Amino acid sequence: MDRFGAKTQKILVTGAAGFIGFHLSRKLLALGHEVVGFDNINDYYDINLKLSRLQLIESTPGFRFVRGDLADREAVLALVKAERFDSVVNLAAQAGVRYSITNPYAYIDSNIQGFINILEGCRHNEVKHLVYASSSSVYGGNTLMPFSVHHNVDHPVSLYAATKKANELMAHTYSSLYGLPTTGLRFFTVYGPWGRPDMALFLFTRAILEGKPIDVFNNGKMQRDFTYVDDIVEGISRVIFSVPGPNPSWDGNCPDPGTSFAPYRIYNIGNNSPVELIRFIEVLEDCLGKQAEKNFLPLQPGDVPATCADVDDLAKDVGFRPSTSIEDGISRFIDWYRSYYHC
Ligand SMILES: NC(=O)c1ccc[n+]([C@@H]2O[C@H](COP(=O)([O-])OP(=O)(O)OC[C@H]3O[C@@H](n4cnc5c(N)ncnc54)[C@H](O)[C@@H]3O)[C@@H](O)[C@H]2O)c1
Repeated sequence: MDRFGAKTQKILVTGAAGFIGFHLSRKLLALGHEVVGFDNINDYYDINLKLSRLQLIESTPGFRFVRGDLADREAVLALVKAERFDSVVNLAAQAGVRYSITNPYAYIDSNIQGFINILEGCRHNEVKHLVYASSSSVYGGNTLMPFSVHHNVDHPVSLYAATKKANELMAHTYSSLYGLPTTGLRFFTVYGPWGRPDMALFLFTRAILEGKPIDVFNNGKMQRDFTYVDDIVEGISRVIFSVPGPNPSWDGNCPDPGTSFAPYRIYNIGNNSPVELIRFIEVLEDCLGKQAEKNFLPLQPGDVPATCADVDDLAKDVGFRPSTSIEDGISRFIDWYRSYYHC
């Protein structure tokens, strides 16, 4: 039994060599679950960082790693069939908003083709719960804050966001047709130790330490609900054991986007405390003891000016709200960065 009273499970974590997948795998192993990690270790960013993460978990009893591509239909279906997982957490994806402007096909291969393979694998092999990563980017053109899962999200502004919204629609279809319980999690700008080198905190830290200028988009007025990675994995690990059922009060005359007549749920996982980019940089400068040279730029295509998560549903259903401050979170990131890169 884990600390929520749930039996230990055999869980597939896709994207296990990635930032969130690595942290989640560690947490699930610490809770006593058996984890099979799956990842193609692609070179979207430094492969050595992915290999170092894997090295840290590979020796843990209860963990096995399978290298493969989500878009490889036979490989995914064979794995899910052979292993008989209790739950599947799909985190593998082509991430990044800006990269989707220049590399659209990478998103279709991993996020659309890959996701249908996961859905098919789950529905044919009695997986009890499919949990998958969506993103705050699905809120696209929405401006009503905080962003709620009960708001309509039909106006994405990047292909990345469109693939995440498509995942939610595909999951709903499988929940409806086959009764597969699915939960989509919209993560809000995740940061922390072992983070992604393509994201602002990593890019800023490296540039500041090297004495190079940093690009500050939307002239620093961008607001982000920065969410510490431990809060994200706490949320995911609770959601795995909160298997959704149909919502009996769902009404097709007034359809709630966040629940359904089918066993389908969507949750936001965000800090519910947006911070201006310029404040985020100030905290980083304090932690590093060094000022940044700032190159102020306009909002980039595909980016949204602000995000803020309504997490009431998450709190109500799994009893958890992210709460790590950026002061604590950035300082823990810097401790890790300095020790990992010896600087
Ligand atoms: N980090 C964030 O701020 C954030 C915010 C919202 C949503 N998300 C989503 O959360 C998930 C995890 O994000 P992350 O930050 O850990 O990203 P990441 O890039 O660090 O991890 C993704 C992992 O998936 C693997 N992968 C990619 N395509 C694959 C494929 N076709 N087959 C097998 N493996 C593949 C990559 O090698 C990588 O290790 C992603 O779905 C991402 O879209 C992340």
